[in-house]
Amino acid sequence: MKQIGLYIHIPFCEKKCYYCDFTSVPGNMELIRKYEKYLIKEIVIQAEKFGKYDIGTIFIGGGTPSVLEQTSIGNILGIIRERFKIVPDAEISMEINPGTLTYEKAVSYKNAGINRVSMGIQSMNDNNLRIIGRIHSKDQVVSTVDILRNAGFENINGDLIFGLPHQSVDDFHKTLDKVKELNLEHISMYGLILEENTLLYHWYKKGLVSMPSEDEERHMYHSGIRMLEQNGYRQYEISNLAKKGFECRHNLGYWKLNPYIGVGLSSHSSIDNRRYWNTSVFNEYFSMIDENILPISGEETISKDLMESEYLILRIRLNEGISFVDYETRFNRSFMQKYERVVNKHIETGLLMISEDRISLTDKGKDLSNLVEVDFLP
Ligand SMILES: C[S@@+](CC[C@H](N)C(=O)[O-])C[C@H]1O[C@@H](n2cnc3c(N)ncnc32)[C@H](O)[C@@H]1O
Ligand code: SF4
Repeated sequence: MKQIGLYIHIPFCEKKCYYCDFTSVPGNMELIRKYEKYLIKEIVIQAEKFGKYDIGTIFIGGGTPSVLEQTSIGNILGIIRERFKIVPDAEISMEINPGTLTYEKAVSYKNAGINRVSMGIQSMNDNNLRIIGRIHSKDQVVSTVDILRNAGFENINGDLIFGLPHQSVDDFHKTLDKVKELNLEHISMYGLILEENTLLYHWYKKGLVSMPSEDEERHMYHSGIRMLEQNGYRQYEISNLAKKGFECRHNLGYWKLNPYIGVGLSSHSSIDNRRYWNTSVFNEYFSMIDENILPISGEETISKDLMESEYLILRIRLNEGISFVDYETRFNRSFMQKYERVVNKHIETGLLMISEDRISLTDKGKDLSNLVEVDFLP
């Protein structure tokens, strides 16, 4: 049976970070318990439709799933196991915030079947962490990794953000030196996006915080990738590095356009040539589930052209790039016949490189990938 990915959204955090525009709110226990009850009802409705598929990967994200009560993750995975078939070697990830984990919780996650933990670190500098509104210190990151290792986790990711307010290149290198010591299996390294809806954006517009220059930000990115590569990590996507064999299978599924379903507020699904997304409004979510219908608020059919441009845009962000054979197998025509002009143009601009069987981004192309991506639009 075809394998799909399953994403579960937990829209709660202890406190909103100043840069973050994800669908999450600081929830009270009453709302959190109610949401959990409805999430489980939604899993049951989804299973009536998609229970025939095997689940290859599960990602419990947010928000901060570790703000739920200790038994909640086990309850959620329990109902998934009851209603779906999870393949024996499934990757089952969850996100945590270092300020919200205890040893007891970590053990309960392990016992529930979680085998990969993704932790928001962002920086190993306490001033940086304060300015962006994180609820934890750098020392709590270190103790959280200890807790996770003692609980038996052998696959841990750490999220970092570079280009933070007042951050220098040297600050970021110091963060990386400390992160290297944590010896994690996977690192995601995101450039800060100043999202309009956030406090940080508002402060920046008012001139209350200063940001690193574009050159400094790019320097952090390239030197950061190099430092991690010298320490046993391999970059496999623009923002992601892993030790061998620890690439995130769930995210690779998104980037390779494999089918997935999303459960929970604002989650997205892409399956059977259809893409749809759940409402982001709590009351709508609750009332649609009360009516026993999926809480969908929008959808689109994925036309062949849209599918092709998404394939190209997502694949080009992977280090392996676009394989001519894979493209031909999927779309039944020659890649170079259709895209020779785009490829030649961007070999000339220095953004693309070509080898016998594929094209991929150069280092310069990783900075300016949007210029290549627009040429793949229908
Ligand atoms: C859902 S959070 C991870 C788990 C947990 N909520 C936490 O923050 O510790 C996902 C990740 O997205 C990244 N992120 C969120 N907003 C961002 C922004 N505006 N710019 C760059 N990265 C961002 C952060 O690295 C964050 O760890
Ligand atoms: S970065 Fe993580 S903890 Fe901070 S508000 Fe966003 S989802 Fe919540």
